[in-house]
Amino acid sequence: MFAELDEPPLDPILGLAQLLAGDTSPDKVDLGIGIYHDDQGRAPVLDCVKAAERWLLETQPSKRYLSSSGNADYNAATRALLFGDGSDGFARSRTIQAPGGTGALRLASDLLRRLSPGGRIFIPGPTWPNHPAIFKATGHELVVYPYYDIETGKVRFDEMMATLGAMGAKDTLLLHGCCHNPTGADLDAAQWSAIADLVSKTGAAVMVDLAYLGLGDGLSEDAAGIRLLAERLPEFIVATSCSKNFALYRERVGALTVVGASETNAVRAHAHALPVARTLWSMPPDHGAAIVAHVLGDAELRRGWERELATMRDRINTMRNRLSARLAGHGDRDYGFIARQRGMFTMLGISPEGVETLRREHHVHLTSSGRVNVAGLNEGNVDRVADAIAAVGNA
Ligand code: LMR
Repeated sequence: MFAELDEPPLDPILGLAQLLAGDTSPDKVDLGIGIYHDDQGRAPVLDCVKAAERWLLETQPSKRYLSSSGNADYNAATRALLFGDGSDGFARSRTIQAPGGTGALRLASDLLRRLSPGGRIFIPGPTWPNHPAIFKATGHELVVYPYYDIETGKVRFDEMMATLGAMGAKDTLLLHGCCHNPTGADLDAAQWSAIADLVSKTGAAVMVDLAYLGLGDGLSEDAAGIRLLAERLPEFIVATSCSKNFALYRERVGALTVVGASETNAVRAHAHALPVARTLWSMPPDHGAAIVAHVLGDAELRRGWERELATMRDRINTMRNRLSARLAGHGDRDYGFIARQRGMFTMLGISPEGVETLRREHHVHLTSSGRVNVAGLNEGNVDRVADAIAAVGNA
C-alpha cells in the first residue's frame, strides 16, 4: 500500500518550516507562518499564560474527562468575548471548545454537511489555504467569490455582492470576522450591514472565521462585524481561535459558537454538534482552554492579557506604517493600503518567482502566494525587508 505512494505536495504554510530551517543566514527573516514575533524576533509565552499555568499546576484537582463540549468556563468566556457579557447574542448562543480554529472549522463543516446536505460553501478569493482543504474534506462544493483587489489593497465589494447574489437557502457564506487572512483587507460596518441584508434575502447560512480577535483595532472593535450579525440575523456560526491572541499556538485552543433565533434553538444546535465532535476527537484537549478560562475569569490576569494583546496589536500596526512608508520611497505605487489594513497579513502581489528570489538572495521567507506576515517585522529588519521587496519588483 505505501510503496506505490508519490511524494505529497508540501503544505503551503507549514511546508515553509523546512525552507526556513535550511537557511543558515543569521539575517533570515520569517514572514511566513502566522506567528507573532516581538521586536527581538522572539515568540514568547505571554506573562498571563505563565501565571495561569502556575496556578493550574498547583490547583488542578483531577485530569478526569470533561465532555465533548470541553471546559464550560472557557465556553462561557468565549461567548462573552464575542458578544459581550449579558448581551442578547450571549444569551442566544452556545459554544463548543475545539482543538484550535482548524478543529472549530472542521466541526462546523461536518455539522453543515449534516444539517444542509448538498449546500455549497462560498469562500473569499483569496482565503486561508486550509479553508478549501477543510471544506472539501467534508465533501462540500465550493464557490470562490471575488474579495481582494491586489492593485488597490481594497475589498472588491460590488463584485463580491454580485457573486453572493447566487447563494441559495442551502448554501453557506464564509466570512473573515477581522484581520482577513491573507489580505488584511476587512469589511467595514456598511458592508457587514449590506451582507446581512443579502443573507436575509437569500436565506443562506453564515459562518464567520474569527481567528485574530483583538489583533486588529481592539477586542470590541474586532467583534463589531459579528455583533452586527447578531442584531440582524436569527442564526449563524463563529469559529474562534486563541492561537494568536493568547499566543497558545501549539496548545490548540479554539471554539465553535452557534447563534440561534432563541436560546432554545442555540441549545438544540449545540446538542447536534456534540455527537459530531464525539466522532472527530471525542473531547478537546484541556490545558490551553483551562488557561484561557482562568485568565479571563481573574480580573488582574485579564487586565494583564489585554495589555499584552494591545502591545502585540500596536507593534503590528507600527510595522504596517513602517513598511508602507519605506515602500512608498521606492516608486509611484501608493502603499497606503498596508497601513490601513489590519492583522498579521498583507499581500503585495509578489509573484512566486519573486518570493523565491526573496528567499534565496535576501533570506526573507514568505508563502509562495506573496503573503507577508507583518508580525515578523521589527525595527531591525523592516527597512531591509522593504528594500528587498522593492528590489524583486513587487506588483
Ligand atoms: C497562518 O495562516 O499562517 C496560520 O493560521 C497558521 C496556519 O495554521 O496556517
